[in-house]
Amino acid sequence: IDITHEHSRVSATLPTGESVEVLLHGASVISWKDAAGQEKLWLSETAALDSSAPVRGGIPVVFPVFGTAPDHEATAKLPQHGFARNSRWEFLGRSTSEGSTSSVKLDFGLSSENLTDEIKALWPYKFGLIYSVSLDPETLSTTLVVTNDGDVAFDFQTLLHTYLRVSDISSVEVSGLEDSEYIDKLDNLATVKQSSAVTFSSETDRIYTPAKGPRHPVVVSDAGKPLFRIVRDNLDQVVVWNPWVDKAASTKDFSPKDGWKNMVCVEPGTVKGWQKLEAGDAFEAAQTISLA
Ligand code: BG6
Repeated sequence: IDITHEHSRVSATLPTGESVEVLLHGASVISWKDAAGQEKLWLSETAALDSSAPVRGGIPVVFPVFGTAPDHEATAKLPQHGFARNSRWEFLGRSTSEGSTSSVKLDFGLSSENLTDEIKALWPYKFGLIYSVSLDPETLSTTLVVTNDGDVAFDFQTLLHTYLRVSDISSVEVSGLEDSEYIDKLDNLATVKQSSAVTFSSETDRIYTPAKGPRHPVVVSDAGKPLFRIVRDNLDQVVVWNPWVDKAASTKDFSPKDGWKNMVCVEPGTVKGWQKLEAGDAFEAAQTISLA
């Protein structure tokens, strides 16, 4: 297994050809390629890869707040989607057993000590995050462990903001969410029940609470062909997002401007209410994305 760690990024390639690339900024996965070299994630051509902003595309890590939460005092002052995606993480190394030739696991860490003074002042809790990116020939999984290293409990939300690459959003279907309720962020947070597979014909921004549980896969298909199967561990929601024409046009770092046709965000998270983590406790959650 070939691993490089330079220019603030870590990449790994399996002997079978699959690869993954992670920026230390945000511990953002910016590339996942299959054995044929086909990219599986969408990354904006103008994504900031120089630490000046969160990465537009790939898999940004949302922590400790999803969106903004003006009514939740402890997180009210934080930037949209929190600080983890815009902080520099440490590479902790590769943690698979030596000699494994078919898979690799890369670990990244962020703790209160790594934060800028500005962010520390906005969110003063002592915490640790360990984010593991594991690549197998057919599967990418990302696991987040949150620890409370302080003396007081804190509340958080987290979400793995995965931008999946598709060839044509108008022929994409997301199944596995049938009979699930969702909150429509584009309709005053109305609660709606999904009756069939999710299809796309306009801007879409929904928080699903899948009825069938975390091990029931959410499947993304394009023109009837399954592309991705996503299962979750300890993450009760799935956000489904596509910005469509206008939102893509008004998003500065979104390019090409018709790039919304080639992406869909399917984002496992825990974002309804708050996870309360007592002093000394740990929380662990994961997504596993398999090529279908
Ligand atoms: C999604 C949210 O998860 O992220 C959307 O549901 C939001 O409301 C989108 O627009 C992108 O957020 P950002 O901060 O990366 O532009």
